[in-house]
Amino acid sequence: GAKEVKNLCFVLVAGGLGERLGYSGIKVALPSEIITGTLYLELYAKSILALQEMAGGGVKLPLAIMTSDDTDAPTLALLEEHGYFGLDKRQVTLMKQEKVPAVFNNDAHIAPDKKTPYRVQTKPHGHGDVHSLLAQSGLPEKWLNSGLKRVFFFQDTNAFALRTLLPSLGSAASRSLDVCSTCVERRAGEAMGGLCLLKKGTQELLKNVEYNQLEPLLLSTTGQGDVDTPSPYPGNTNQLIISLEGEHGYVSTLERTGGRVPEFVNPKFNANRTFKKPARLECMMQDYPQLLEGGSVGFVTLSRKAVREYAPVKNSPESAIDKVKSGLDAHCASSGEADFYALHGDFLRCGRDVVIGGKEPGVYRGLSVEMPPRIVLSPSFALIEDDIISKVKGVTVHKGATLIVE
Ligand code: UTP
Repeated sequence: GAKEVKNLCFVLVAGGLGERLGYSGIKVALPSEIITGTLYLELYAKSILALQEMAGGGVKLPLAIMTSDDTDAPTLALLEEHGYFGLDKRQVTLMKQEKVPAVFNNDAHIAPDKKTPYRVQTKPHGHGDVHSLLAQSGLPEKWLNSGLKRVFFFQDTNAFALRTLLPSLGSAASRSLDVCSTCVERRAGEAMGGLCLLKKGTQELLKNVEYNQLEPLLLSTTGQGDVDTPSPYPGNTNQLIISLEGEHGYVSTLERTGGRVPEFVNPKFNANRTFKKPARLECMMQDYPQLLEGGSVGFVTLSRKAVREYAPVKNSPESAIDKVKSGLDAHCASSGEADFYALHGDFLRCGRDVVIGGKEPGVYRGLSVEMPPRIVLSPSFALIEDDIISKVKGVTVHKGATLIVE
């Protein structure tokens, strides 16, 4: 992975509103942890800078960010305010996705905007827009022509994304995959899509099946639902590595398809089959393999014992409590933060003579969270275990302690 990073470009999808989080600003402007207060976008920029350093030769790895009407101006303002967090302004591109009309019944009547007469209600079309926007932008072809090989797609509040990138990148490169999904072990019933090998006649397709469709699919095929833990279907973290070059590469596929991934509609129904809220057509970036006419699709499953390498911050503190009660991950700010420190502590343990204290029980906005020692390793200090092995010796971090390494 470290060898291949010099040929990588980054695409962050950040057009989502984050309604579940209950935060009115843009998610990438939130702190990824509160010890240093590093913002998500800042963390990503610092990680890209550290990866560039690792690549050597003064390379500048491009970053494209997909925004929407809701996030475009504040994302640009955040970057400008902070001098692009050390990135060269010319290596960053913003692309704005449009909203689509919503419909309010089974006959697909367009929902009027209740506040403004003669206007229709519009909603985001999903992160799948990233492929058509990239196709329109001409960026992938430009990247390929400048010698770059692969694109890494990741999401807005996923602090581990760039730390777990290299093993997947190494695997994608050594197996010459056109598409590689980064996965983690999935538990039964979890709100996380599973990678499945779908077969019909002589056709086969390895792709993500969203969690709301996995249960009915398994019931109709195996007779049992989504019941096994660990699930035999690796859990999709929506970190994708797509190869730019070749017959089944990104550039050729976008040229052939315009990057239009299949759409779906997902209305929530009342008991009498009326819509609870207007619904709209949506699309998902992980459905990209459906555009392929061959090529190789694979995945990498990450498995650290101390902490699962997927801790997105998606839910409000209140809804996180309900999620935990029903046996699901909290995926909220406090749990994301605790996992962040746990991952860094686990990395630090790769050094020599390292002792790390236990977790402290705590309650954050009503949710019980076990907080490990608050360890933050800046990306420029260590990106991979090898960095720790060569740099860390004789460290004790007690329970309740804080350690920041810049
Ligand atoms: P989420 O599933 O977290 O959805 O998106 P969301 O819309 O941001 O949040 P909720 O559902 O309102 O709570 C996963 C990723 O896809 C991006 C988000 O910004 C996030 O990085 N996304 C989502 C887009 O870029 N565009 C969209 O239309 C939807």
